Amino acid sequence: MTNKYIYFVANWKMFGNLRSLYSLNKVISFTKKYKRYKFKLIYCPPNTLISPLKDKLKSSSIDIGAQNCHESENFGANTGQVNSNMLKDVGAKYVIIGHSENRQLGESDNLINLKIKSSIKSGLKVIFCIGETLAQKRKKKTKKVLSHQITHGLKKVKNKKNVLIAYEPVWAIGSGLIPNEKEIFEITNFIKDKVKGSKVLYGGSVNPKNIKLLKKINNVDGFLIGGASQNSNNFIDIIKKTFI
Ligand code: PGA
Repeated sequence: MTNKYIYFVANWKMFGNLRSLYSLNKVISFTKKYKRYKFKLIYCPPNTLISPLKDKLKSSSIDIGAQNCHESENFGANTGQVNSNMLKDVGAKYVIIGHSENRQLGESDNLINLKIKSSIKSGLKVIFCIGETLAQKRKKKTKKVLSHQITHGLKKVKNKKNVLIAYEPVWAIGSGLIPNEKEIFEITNFIKDKVKGSKVLYGGSVNPKNIKLLKKINNVDGFLIGGASQNSNNFIDIIKKTFI
Protein backbone atom coordinates (compact mmCIF):
# COMPACT_ATOMS: atom_id res chain seq x y z
CA MET A 1 0.00 0.00 0.00
CA THR A 2 2.92 2.33 0.58
CA ASN A 3 4.09 2.81 -3.04
CA LYS A 4 1.22 5.09 -3.94
CA TYR A 5 -0.33 8.17 -2.35
CA ILE A 6 -2.77 7.20 0.37
CA TYR A 7 -5.72 9.49 1.09
CA PHE A 8 -6.82 10.21 4.63
CA VAL A 9 -10.09 12.10 4.63
CA ALA A 10 -11.31 13.48 7.95
CA ASN A 11 -15.08 13.74 8.09
CA TRP A 12 -15.91 15.85 11.13
CA LYS A 13 -19.66 15.60 10.56
CA MET A 14 -21.57 18.07 12.80
CA PHE A 15 -18.71 18.39 15.28
CA GLY A 16 -16.21 21.17 15.85
CA ASN A 17 -16.03 24.87 16.58
CA LEU A 18 -13.34 27.52 16.23
CA ARG A 19 -11.58 26.18 19.31
CA SER A 20 -11.29 22.69 17.79
CA LEU A 21 -8.95 24.11 15.15
CA TYR A 22 -6.15 24.45 17.74
CA SER A 23 -5.88 20.68 17.84
CA LEU A 24 -4.83 20.73 14.19
CA ASN A 25 -1.48 22.29 15.08
CA LYS A 26 -0.25 18.80 15.86
CA VAL A 27 -1.42 17.45 12.54
CA ILE A 28 0.17 20.32 10.63
CA SER A 29 3.56 19.75 12.29
CA PHE A 30 3.20 16.02 11.72
CA THR A 31 2.67 16.48 7.98
CA LYS A 32 5.77 18.68 7.78
CA LYS A 33 7.91 16.25 9.73
CA TYR A 34 6.79 13.16 7.85
CA LYS A 35 6.87 14.56 4.31
CA ARG A 36 8.65 11.40 3.18
CA TYR A 37 5.45 9.39 3.57
CA LYS A 38 3.17 9.52 0.59
CA PHE A 39 -0.10 10.73 2.05
CA LYS A 40 -2.76 13.20 1.05
CA LEU A 41 -4.76 14.70 3.91
CA ILE A 42 -8.18 16.25 3.42
CA TYR A 43 -10.16 17.81 6.25
CA CYS A 44 -13.92 18.05 5.81
CA PRO A 45 -15.16 20.22 8.66
CA PRO A 46 -18.64 21.74 8.98
CA ASN A 47 -19.10 24.64 6.54
CA THR A 48 -18.71 27.18 9.37
CA LEU A 49 -15.05 26.19 9.73
CA ILE A 50 -13.94 26.08 6.09
CA SER A 51 -12.79 29.68 5.90
CA PRO A 52 -10.89 29.78 9.23
CA LEU A 53 -9.38 26.41 8.39
CA LYS A 54 -8.16 27.75 5.08
CA ASP A 55 -6.25 30.48 6.93
CA LYS A 56 -4.83 27.96 9.32
CA LEU A 57 -3.64 25.62 6.57
CA LYS A 58 -2.06 28.37 4.47
CA SER A 59 1.46 26.98 4.63
CA SER A 60 0.47 23.32 4.78
CA SER A 61 -0.18 20.58 2.23
CA ILE A 62 -3.52 19.67 3.80
CA ASP A 63 -6.60 20.21 1.62
CA ILE A 64 -10.13 21.13 2.65
CA GLY A 65 -13.41 19.52 1.71
CA ALA A 66 -17.06 20.14 2.50
CA GLN A 67 -19.54 17.50 3.59
CA ASN A 68 -22.40 18.16 1.17
CA CYS A 69 -23.86 20.83 -1.09
CA HIS A 70 -26.97 21.85 -2.99
CA GLU A 71 -27.55 20.31 -6.41
CA SER A 72 -27.34 23.66 -8.20
CA GLU A 73 -24.07 25.52 -8.51
CA ASN A 74 -25.96 28.79 -8.97
CA PHE A 75 -27.28 31.26 -6.42
CA GLY A 76 -30.93 30.71 -5.63
CA ALA A 77 -33.77 31.11 -3.18
CA ASN A 78 -32.86 28.05 -1.13
CA THR A 79 -32.90 28.95 2.53
CA GLY A 80 -30.27 27.13 4.57
CA GLN A 81 -28.47 25.69 1.55
CA VAL A 82 -24.94 26.18 0.24
CA ASN A 83 -23.81 25.44 -3.32
CA SER A 84 -20.56 24.06 -4.71
CA ASN A 85 -19.34 27.41 -6.09
CA MET A 86 -19.78 28.97 -2.65
CA LEU A 87 -17.75 26.17 -1.08
CA LYS A 88 -15.00 26.57 -3.65
CA ASP A 89 -14.99 30.31 -3.07
CA VAL A 90 -14.15 29.91 0.64
CA GLY A 91 -11.45 27.29 0.15
CA ALA A 92 -12.91 23.83 -0.39
CA LYS A 93 -11.25 21.62 -3.00
CA TYR A 94 -13.35 18.54 -2.31
CA VAL A 95 -16.91 17.74 -1.32
CA ILE A 96 -18.37 14.56 0.13
CA ILE A 97 -21.52 13.54 -1.72
CA GLY A 98 -23.90 10.68 -1.00
CA HIS A 99 -22.93 10.00 2.59
CA SER A 100 -25.29 7.41 4.05
CA GLU A 101 -26.33 9.81 6.82
CA ASN A 102 -27.74 12.05 4.08
CA ARG A 103 -29.12 9.18 2.02
CA GLN A 104 -31.02 8.17 5.17
CA LEU A 105 -32.53 11.66 5.26
CA GLY A 106 -33.93 11.08 1.80
CA GLU A 107 -31.15 11.92 -0.68
CA SER A 108 -31.91 9.88 -3.78
CA ASP A 109 -29.43 8.54 -6.33
CA ASN A 110 -30.80 11.10 -8.77
CA LEU A 111 -30.20 14.01 -6.39
CA ILE A 112 -26.73 12.67 -5.64
CA ASN A 113 -26.02 12.53 -9.37
CA LEU A 114 -27.04 16.19 -9.79
CA LYS A 115 -24.84 17.18 -6.84
CA ILE A 116 -21.84 15.34 -8.28
CA LYS A 117 -22.26 17.00 -11.67
CA SER A 118 -22.66 20.50 -10.25
CA SER A 119 -19.67 20.03 -7.91
CA ILE A 120 -17.42 18.97 -10.77
CA LYS A 121 -18.68 21.90 -12.82
CA SER A 122 -17.59 24.19 -9.97
CA GLY A 123 -14.13 22.65 -10.00
CA LEU A 124 -14.46 20.58 -6.85
CA LYS A 125 -13.34 16.99 -6.57
CA VAL A 126 -16.01 14.66 -5.26
CA ILE A 127 -15.73 12.01 -2.57
CA PHE A 128 -18.68 9.85 -3.60
CA CYS A 129 -19.95 7.57 -0.82
CA ILE A 130 -21.61 4.25 -1.49
CA GLY A 131 -22.43 1.34 0.77
CA GLU A 132 -24.91 -1.36 1.71
CA THR A 133 -27.02 -1.69 4.86
CA LEU A 134 -26.74 -4.70 7.13
CA ALA A 135 -30.04 -6.11 5.83
CA GLN A 136 -28.76 -5.85 2.25
CA LYS A 137 -25.49 -7.51 3.21
CA ARG A 138 -27.34 -10.38 4.89
CA LYS A 139 -29.40 -10.88 1.76
CA LYS A 140 -26.12 -10.96 -0.22
CA LYS A 141 -27.16 -7.90 -2.17
CA THR A 142 -24.03 -5.82 -1.57
CA LYS A 143 -22.76 -5.83 -5.15
CA LYS A 144 -26.22 -5.21 -6.57
CA VAL A 145 -26.72 -2.21 -4.28
CA LEU A 146 -23.28 -0.76 -5.00
CA SER A 147 -23.73 -1.28 -8.70
CA HIS A 148 -27.05 0.60 -8.59
CA GLN A 149 -25.57 3.46 -6.56
CA ILE A 150 -22.61 3.76 -8.93
CA THR A 151 -24.63 3.57 -12.15
CA HIS A 152 -27.17 6.17 -11.05
CA GLY A 153 -24.81 8.38 -9.05
CA LEU A 154 -22.30 8.66 -11.89
CA LYS A 155 -24.80 8.81 -14.76
CA LYS A 156 -23.44 11.13 -17.46
CA VAL A 157 -20.53 12.16 -15.25
CA LYS A 158 -17.78 12.77 -17.77
CA ASN A 159 -14.74 13.59 -15.66
CA LYS A 160 -14.68 10.54 -13.46
CA LYS A 161 -11.07 11.27 -12.59
CA ASN A 162 -12.50 14.03 -10.37
CA VAL A 163 -14.35 11.46 -8.32
CA LEU A 164 -12.92 9.40 -5.47
CA ILE A 165 -15.23 6.59 -4.45
CA ALA A 166 -15.60 5.86 -0.74
CA TYR A 167 -16.93 2.42 0.07
CA GLU A 168 -18.66 2.83 3.42
CA PRO A 169 -20.84 -0.06 4.53
CA VAL A 170 -23.69 1.62 6.44
CA TRP A 171 -23.45 -0.95 9.22
CA ALA A 172 -19.76 -0.19 9.74
CA ILE A 173 -20.19 3.57 10.26
CA GLY A 174 -19.71 4.49 13.90
CA SER A 175 -20.31 0.89 15.01
CA GLY A 176 -16.78 -0.37 15.64
CA LEU A 177 -17.43 -3.14 13.12
CA ILE A 178 -15.63 -3.52 9.79
CA PRO A 179 -15.85 -6.04 6.95
CA ASN A 180 -13.01 -8.55 6.81
CA GLU A 181 -9.96 -7.94 4.62
CA LYS A 182 -11.13 -10.32 1.93
CA GLU A 183 -14.51 -8.61 1.66
CA ILE A 184 -12.96 -5.14 1.38
CA PHE A 185 -10.45 -6.38 -1.21
CA GLU A 186 -13.18 -7.98 -3.29
CA ILE A 187 -15.55 -4.99 -3.13
CA THR A 188 -12.74 -2.56 -3.95
CA ASN A 189 -11.87 -4.62 -7.02
CA PHE A 190 -15.51 -4.78 -7.97
CA ILE A 191 -15.78 -0.97 -7.79
CA LYS A 192 -12.52 -0.46 -9.72
CA ASP A 193 -13.77 -2.81 -12.35
CA LYS A 194 -17.03 -0.87 -12.69
CA VAL A 195 -15.37 2.55 -12.72
CA LYS A 196 -12.11 2.11 -14.58
CA GLY A 197 -9.22 4.10 -13.24
CA SER A 198 -11.03 5.08 -10.07
CA LYS A 199 -9.47 5.50 -6.66
CA VAL A 200 -11.36 3.73 -3.90
CA LEU A 201 -11.29 4.63 -0.22
CA TYR A 202 -12.62 2.52 2.62
CA GLY A 203 -14.69 4.16 5.38
CA GLY A 204 -16.51 2.94 8.48
CA SER A 205 -15.01 2.64 11.98
CA VAL A 206 -11.40 3.09 10.88
CA ASN A 207 -9.35 3.49 14.05
CA PRO A 208 -5.74 3.22 15.30
CA LYS A 209 -6.26 -0.49 16.08
CA ASN A 210 -7.83 -1.84 12.92
CA ILE A 211 -5.63 0.24 10.59
CA LYS A 212 -2.94 -2.42 10.95
CA LEU A 213 -5.24 -4.87 9.17
CA LEU A 214 -6.76 -2.37 6.78
CA LYS A 215 -3.41 -1.13 5.49
CA LYS A 216 -2.63 -4.62 4.19
CA ILE A 217 -5.44 -4.44 1.65
CA ASN A 218 -3.33 -3.27 -1.23
CA ASN A 219 -5.99 -2.14 -3.69
CA VAL A 220 -7.45 0.42 -1.24
CA ASP A 221 -6.30 4.00 -1.97
CA GLY A 222 -7.09 5.51 1.40
CA PHE A 223 -9.59 5.99 4.18
CA LEU A 224 -12.58 8.15 5.04
CA ILE A 225 -12.48 8.61 8.79
CA GLY A 226 -15.24 9.99 10.99
CA GLY A 227 -15.03 9.62 14.77
CA ALA A 228 -11.30 8.92 14.95
CA SER A 229 -10.46 12.01 12.88
CA GLN A 230 -11.91 14.34 15.48
CA ASN A 231 -9.05 13.56 17.81
CA SER A 232 -5.73 14.67 16.32
CA ASN A 233 -3.71 12.08 18.25
CA ASN A 234 -5.86 9.26 16.91
CA PHE A 235 -5.78 10.65 13.41
CA ILE A 236 -1.98 10.95 13.44
CA ASP A 237 -1.73 7.48 14.93
CA ILE A 238 -3.77 6.05 12.05
CA ILE A 239 -1.57 7.75 9.46
CA LYS A 240 1.67 6.70 11.14
CA LYS A 241 0.57 3.09 11.48
CA THR A 242 -0.29 2.97 7.81
CA PHE A 243 3.32 3.63 6.91
CA ILE A 244 5.34 2.18 9.77
P1 PGA B 1 -16.74 6.57 11.37
O1 PGA B 1 -17.47 7.43 10.24
O2 PGA B 1 -15.28 6.55 11.06
O3 PGA B 1 -17.04 7.31 12.64
O4 PGA B 1 -17.33 5.21 11.35
C1 PGA B 1 -17.07 7.34 8.90
C2 PGA B 1 -17.98 8.19 8.06
O5 PGA B 1 -19.17 8.30 8.37
O6 PGA B 1 -17.54 8.79 7.05
